[in-house]
Amino acid sequence: VSVVGVIAAGGSGERLGASVPKAFVVLGGRALYEWSFEVLRGVCDRVVVAVPSETSDLRPQTSDVVVGGASRSASVRNALAAAPEASVVVVHDAARPLVERDLVERCIAALDGVDGAIAAAPVTDTVKEADSAGRVVRTLDRSVLWAVQTPQVFRADVLRRALDVDESVLASATDDASLVEAAGGAIVLVEAPRENIKVTTELDLRVAEAMLEARC
Ligand code: C5P
Repeated sequence: VSVVGVIAAGGSGERLGASVPKAFVVLGGRALYEWSFEVLRGVCDRVVVAVPSETSDLRPQTSDVVVGGASRSASVRNALAAAPEASVVVVHDAARPLVERDLVERCIAALDGVDGAIAAAPVTDTVKEADSAGRVVRTLDRSVLWAVQTPQVFRADVLRRALDVDESVLASATDDASLVEAAGGAIVLVEAPRENIKVTTELDLRVAEAMLEARC
């Protein structure tokens, strides 16, 4: 079994408002993607990082690097194309620097008899569906809702097939598991700590920094 890590670090991170793409913003003395890279490197045989095309001067020198695509899933597809030997793929967003080894290992262990095993936390907010005018259409049953994170671990052959779709389909996917689901794949959830936050805004960056400091 060859376990290959894929770090999706190809986004521009416009909502963060930094002068460099989000994955290269410095957090606790390291580029954002490096936190995840260190964790995945400890668990995977090899880690491929998908970076934005404009970051040639920032690129990690010590790892496998590919140029990302127009969408998150296109970046994952590009990284996977560089790892023909993979039988298991661990996809992780550079935007989740607080991931811990235990979670990655539990996702890999859960890939037994299924096509994908993905990190997720129970939803604690009440979630409502609304129309474009902001009028509430319905309230969803929170007891069956999960907020999905990365890592998302897949059988490589299944993920490759799921990603072999039009760019427009890739662009509308907000995670890779949804593409595998659409292709009929079986996915299980792995309960993840809420601490595995996604850095999207400046506030998230400050929260992540405080959490990393509290760890040391
Ligand atoms: O934009 P969003 O926060 O949803 O991005 C999630 C992750 O996907 C980030 O780590 C980002 O770098 C990555 N991404 C990518 N290629 C893109 C867009 C986003 O690898 N074209």
